[in-house]
Amino acid sequence: MRRIPYIEVVAISDKDELSAQTKAQHLGIEQYTANFDRLLDMDIDSVHICTPNNLHFAMAKKALEAGKHVICEKPLAITIDEARELVMLAEAKKLVNAVHFNIRYYPLVRQMKIMREKGELGEIYSIIGSYLQDWLFYDTDYNWRLEPGQSGQSRAIADIGSHLLDLLEYISGQEIVAVMADLNTVHKTRKKPLKPIDTYSGMLLKPEDFVEVGISTEDHANVLLRFGNGNRGAITVSQVAAGRKNRLSIEIAGSKQSFAWNSEQPNELWLGKRDAPNGLLLRDPSLMHEACRPLVAFPGGHNEGFPDTSRQLFGEVYAAIWSGDQSLPAYPTFRDGLRELILCESIIESNKKQDWVSIT
Ligand SMILES: NC(=O)c1ccc[n+]([C@@H]2O[C@H](COP(=O)([O-])OP(=O)(O)OC[C@H]3O[C@@H](n4cnc5c(N)ncnc54)[C@H](O)[C@@H]3O)[C@@H](O)[C@H]2O)c1
Repeated sequence: MRRIPYIEVVAISDKDELSAQTKAQHLGIEQYTANFDRLLDMDIDSVHICTPNNLHFAMAKKALEAGKHVICEKPLAITIDEARELVMLAEAKKLVNAVHFNIRYYPLVRQMKIMREKGELGEIYSIIGSYLQDWLFYDTDYNWRLEPGQSGQSRAIADIGSHLLDLLEYISGQEIVAVMADLNTVHKTRKKPLKPIDTYSGMLLKPEDFVEVGISTEDHANVLLRFGNGNRGAITVSQVAAGRKNRLSIEIAGSKQSFAWNSEQPNELWLGKRDAPNGLLLRDPSLMHEACRPLVAFPGGHNEGFPDTSRQLFGEVYAAIWSGDQSLPAYPTFRDGLRELILCESIIESNKKQDWVSIT
């Protein structure tokens, strides 16, 4: 946020005074509090909510009721009803409401969207996506995301599948109209540390340091998709894929060409051709559509990455706050957050029924 002109980070809130103070000192923020209500009483215009998923709804609701613009982490809430209430409240209050679907803000993601809008992709025949991670690979890996009370009924789909589903619809302009899901919990139990322990030091645990707990949310998901144009797609999401650190990959086959892009090589877009050599577009403002250029902060060859996506998303959100114009938000709003919850709940329902579920 500090890379955007005219933003002052006024205060930080955390779950207890010590954590809030430590983070405030580390980040050079003057005021801190463990009391969210006190934060809202301060002279602030907007709030960024970056807490575990189960806290998003209550915090966003309070912030909107206090007249603050809200930028919330994904997933927006843990149920459709909560998300719908937030959409209605934010719109009634005419406050800026954004969900941090930051993957949309890689410059080449915007380039794919604009190329599709200009007809350079043609009719979309199929979309294949995956989002693979390995940070929950061992049964000794543990985090609040493994607890449905904090994370919600879905884990891999809600946590990272939400980014992928948002991106599929954003780039392609196609709505997902039905899903058929098959979810799997690879580690049926995990070792929950009884004391604070670094995520990757699980091998150092002794039997007395952990308790074995049952896991009900998915480590891995396969979902078949049907799109509004009648064509098909599929996604795979996993948090137990060794060696894949944070790899969102998308491949769209169109009637004119194909796109392939992944978040671990975000400055390269593969263009697949039937009747000519395949191409590789490197992120360079002079080679990209003009409408993408505001998202490109550095010249070609100087790589941009994950932290730049948030900077660009916040830039568009604060432009709406300053101008007071939210008529056509380009950034992802609470409506997009609601959309992801609808898709996520439909995926859970489909897995339970082991059948297709239409998105209503
Ligand atoms: N957009 C993205 O790419 C992205 C990436 C990572 C995480 N996230 C989202 O961000 C959120 C947080 O995830 P994380 O990995 O940073 O988790 P984390 O556990 O590292 O951080 C959560 C923070 O919330 C604080 N907290 C807990 N209870 C609180 C309370 N009552 N009041 C104030 N603060 C409280 C914790 O102390 C901690 O500092 C999740 O919703 C997650 O889905 C999004």
